[in-house]
This record gives sequence, C-alpha cells and structure tokens, in this order.
Amino acid sequence: MLALCGGCCSCATCHVFIDPEFIESLPAPGEDENDLLDSSDHRNDRSRLACQIGLNAGLDGLRVTIAPED
Ligand code: FES
Repeated sequence: MLALCGGCCSCATCHVFIDPEFIESLPAPGEDENDLLDSSDHRNDRSRLACQIGLNAGLDGLRVTIAPED
C-alpha cells in the first residue's frame, strides 16, 4: 500500500475493501473520505480509506483487502 499522503486524507492510495463482517462496526466515512473514494473506479459498498479508520478493541481481527490501483 502506498499511503502517499501519510494519512492526511488527500491521496486515496490507501483504499481498501473492508471484510463484510466488520463493515457495520465502522462509522460512516467523512465528507473528504467520501469525495476521495468517489474518484476511484474501484469503489464499492465496502470501500474505505485505511488511514481514516480509527482502530479500537471492537475492530480486533479486522481484515481488509487492498483495492486495485486507479
Ligand atoms: S494515506 Fe492518503 S488518503 Fe489515506
């Protein structure tokens, strides 16, 4: 994963697909994250930017798949 902007929510190179069992555990993406995800040809209903996911104990075992590069 490139994660070029270092977590500043400005590049979308940290695009991942969240495993279905965890998708309901995450808060909805913010406006900036949502806009960036819209720029991807690979966006689907499990898309998130990994740098915008705040980890907590409830996400123990979280699995993601790195999205293809745009
Ligand atoms: S690392 Fe750039 S948006 Fe996540």
